[in-house]
Amino acid sequence: MSNFQELARLSSAILASENVYTEVETAKALSEFIHSVQSKLTQYVQKDNETKVSGGIALSSYDAALCLDDYIRTARFLKGTHAAIRQMIQSQASSAVNILYAGCGPLGTLLLPLLPLFDSRQLDCVLLDINASSLESVQKLLNALGLQAYSIKTIETDATTYRKPENWPMNLLITETMFRALVREPQVSVTINLAGQLEPNGILIPESINMDMVYTTFGDEPYLRNDLHAFDRGRIEAMTPYPNRQVKNRLFSINKELDFLKQVDQQSGDFRYTVHEMPVSFDLWPDICVFTQIHIYGEQHLESAESYITNPFCITNFYNLAGCKSFELVYHFRDLPNWSHVIKQ
Ligand SMILES: C[S@@+](CC[C@H](N)C(=O)[O-])C[C@H]1O[C@@H](n2cnc3c(N)ncnc32)[C@H](O)[C@@H]1O
Repeated sequence: MSNFQELARLSSAILASENVYTEVETAKALSEFIHSVQSKLTQYVQKDNETKVSGGIALSSYDAALCLDDYIRTARFLKGTHAAIRQMIQSQASSAVNILYAGCGPLGTLLLPLLPLFDSRQLDCVLLDINASSLESVQKLLNALGLQAYSIKTIETDATTYRKPENWPMNLLITETMFRALVREPQVSVTINLAGQLEPNGILIPESINMDMVYTTFGDEPYLRNDLHAFDRGRIEAMTPYPNRQVKNRLFSINKELDFLKQVDQQSGDFRYTVHEMPVSFDLWPDICVFTQIHIYGEQHLESAESYITNPFCITNFYNLAGCKSFELVYHFRDLPNWSHVIKQ
């Protein structure tokens, strides 16, 4: 079987997976195959090319390659992207679907595996990354996987400032340049720059990243630990939500309409959310956390702790806020994205 056929077989298995265990199994099989092909091409992808961009840190090529092994994430994004491409092909039968993949990393994980499932005339793809070594790797991988017939341009550039050509209507934008609670990596700045360049009926993948304020006991919440057993069946089965969790409020969503920008404080340039009601008793849920839920596309979601990028994030706890009347949660998304809190007397 050729690499092209094997890739098609493995991707089809991911699309057919019906539960979280088969999603893990099939994404693992894809990872083993891609790594076997890739390690023959280049022994090392660069480890030391983490790059500062205006809205965060772009991962090194090595760390970006590891994202493939965030198995549930990879399986759900591939399912969502496949459904979005099919939807676009249906709605514009006569011309190719133009796809921009911003932050493709060295493996083009969220798009390359799907290509054999489409006719090469149906797609016109642009892959961006800030790291030259990632694009070199993608080029080699495209050849090794027998994907030369597809229209794929690679561009080394910063996705927070890139402008697409006027005569290239963007139908689909894929970007996953994020970490848990949208800290550190530049997902928000990349989306702000690129989503506005989509066609009116264009699709953003992920469709929305939803940030909620949750009061809980952080240590009792499911958390996907990054180790060899992260995706063991027993671990997945044990991932049950903390029963006394209090979901307090949707803070904001990142989507193609960029509604989020309306909620940004004009003076500081940050998202700010004030909590006026201080609880009298909070023993069962002392921690003030941010939870991330991702709606990828159609039926595909990632809930808290199903992936490293949706792990919960603890900002502070009510013991630290003793005596104050209100507090503010602040999300800073330029420079180095992070969360903080401000105590109000
Ligand atoms: C979290 S990795 C994900 C890799 C791959 N998309 C995946 O989902 O497996 C993010 C990738 O985006 C790239 N990246 C981050 N910020 C970028 C920017 N402003 N411009 C271009 N590439 C960027 C990084 O170099 C890295 O390859």
